[in-house]
Amino acid sequence: MIDWTGQQVLITGAASGIGRALAIALAARGARVTGADINAAGVAETAALCGGEAFTIDLADGAAGAQAVERLVARHGRLDAVFANAGIGYSRRLLKADLDDPGLARLWEINMLGPTRLAQALVAAAEAGGWRARLVITGSENSLSLPPSIQNFGNGLYAASKHGVLILAEWLATECRNARKPMDVHMLLPGGVYTGLTAPGLGPDPANWPAAMGIIQPERAAELCLAGLDLGLFYIPTHRHLIDDMAARQQGVAAATAALGLQQSA
Ligand SMILES: NC(=O)c1ccc[n+]([C@@H]2O[C@H](COP(=O)([O-])OP(=O)(O)OC[C@H]3O[C@@H](n4cnc5c(N)ncnc54)[C@H](O)[C@@H]3O)[C@@H](O)[C@H]2O)c1
Repeated sequence: MIDWTGQQVLITGAASGIGRALAIALAARGARVTGADINAAGVAETAALCGGEAFTIDLADGAAGAQAVERLVARHGRLDAVFANAGIGYSRRLLKADLDDPGLARLWEINMLGPTRLAQALVAAAEAGGWRARLVITGSENSLSLPPSIQNFGNGLYAASKHGVLILAEWLATECRNARKPMDVHMLLPGGVYTGLTAPGLGPDPANWPAAMGIIQPERAAELCLAGLDLGLFYIPTHRHLIDDMAARQQGVAAATAALGLQQSA
């Protein structure tokens, strides 16, 4: 079990939802939490709830993540963990979507590139300071498949950002391992969680939530995240149905290789 006592932790997207729940859960285990979010009032409230600190940040600005890491290292002398959790939704029918929408640049930056920028800054700081760091990136069930339960949501571009951040995390973990860099990388993969992201679509009444989504509360997602970290997992799913959702892709490729008569080594 990880001893979080006294560990300096930065959580992006900590003003609400999963980020706030992580902040409270980590503080309960003794971590010293700093939240960073574009929502100044929300992140200040999170800091008050967990006895931590907060500052405002816009992660659509590519330099902001590295500046946040530098700021915390300068203030506390170290930064043990970053939870790259901030994310935005983006829902459009792909066949009609404006692919030149400036909002897409924000989507790629916040959801996909931002965690790699944080990784670069964190590993550099840990190497210079001589400590080992941990990076926990929030992906999604949309990182792994096109879940049948949400196929009418128009999530294609959001899902592209979440597929992108997963493969970047896999490469980051591989590069860290191969180059013996002092950073462990983990991937939180939430299914449906009732937060500011999903609440507008789901409404307040759980009776109306699609059963197939298996919506959970952010506190449960945070609990599973910390349990996954305790176990040293890279992939930290919050729902069992993620496996079944992924199976369609694997089975499709397997069926195609069989249909094409491809042999084991081909
Ligand atoms: N809720 C779900 O069902 C679900 C499922 C899978 C993945 N996720 C992911 O979980 C993460 C947390 O989302 P959530 O569900 O808790 O929703 P949320 O909206 O409650 O939290 C997202 C937080 O990110 C912050 N944020 C948005 N843009 C930002 C920016 N430019 N700079 C800094 N902060 C910014 C928001 O202010 C908010 O506090 C996201 O990455 C999201 O994609 C959520």
